[in-house]
Amino acid sequence: MARRVLILFSHPALHRSRMNAAMMAAVQELQGVTFHDLYEVYPDYRIDVTAEQKLLLEHDVIVWQHPFYWYMAPSLLKEWMDVVLEYGFAYGEEGTALRGKAVMSALTTGGPEEAYQHGGHNRFTMHELLAPFDQTAHLCGMTYLEPFILHAVNRCTQQEVQAAALKYRVRIQQLLA
Ligand SMILES: Cc1cc2nc3c(=O)[nH]c(=O)nc-3n(C[C@H](O)[C@H](O)[C@H](O)COP(=O)(O)O)c2cc1C
Repeated sequence: MARRVLILFSHPALHRSRMNAAMMAAVQELQGVTFHDLYEVYPDYRIDVTAEQKLLLEHDVIVWQHPFYWYMAPSLLKEWMDVVLEYGFAYGEEGTALRGKAVMSALTTGGPEEAYQHGGHNRFTMHELLAPFDQTAHLCGMTYLEPFILHAVNRCTQQEVQAAALKYRVRIQQLLA
């Protein structure tokens, strides 16, 4: 059976976005994909925990898509993690609801790839900086897939933006297979 993919999209300024907007357009109509724009649904940060947990149960693969903000996710995705990944649901003795699912980070950065290395401008590798996401997935019994990362996106030409969005579409299609 084909897998179902839930994209939890977090961008507080979508009207100013180039890359994430193009990525969104490239995947949101794919069959089997639920594109869930958290800032659109919860502009007041009052997350409907029951509805979000139900969505998680209905999908096999979760994607955390967002621009990299201060070496992490925009704050609404963090809030989503805080309130949705509850004890007894996502972790703890009875908290087995997410076991066996997979999760992937899909993110865009302003910084170039070479800045994300030891001795580089940002001092740490992406792998190191994404450790909280990786460990969150692990604690919930989910497999943390190889992240999809686009670097230096603000320097991209319109053509490069389109090419990158297509690459994202291919990755999402692989998750659906
Ligand atoms: C508040 C804020 C924090 C940011 N922090 C980072 C950062 O830590 N590392 C980085 O490489 N880029 C950072 N950026 C740049 C964004 O990641 C970049 O503008 C974004 O990925 C562009 O995607 P978009 O076209 O979809 O908006 C930051 C931008 C903003 C507005």
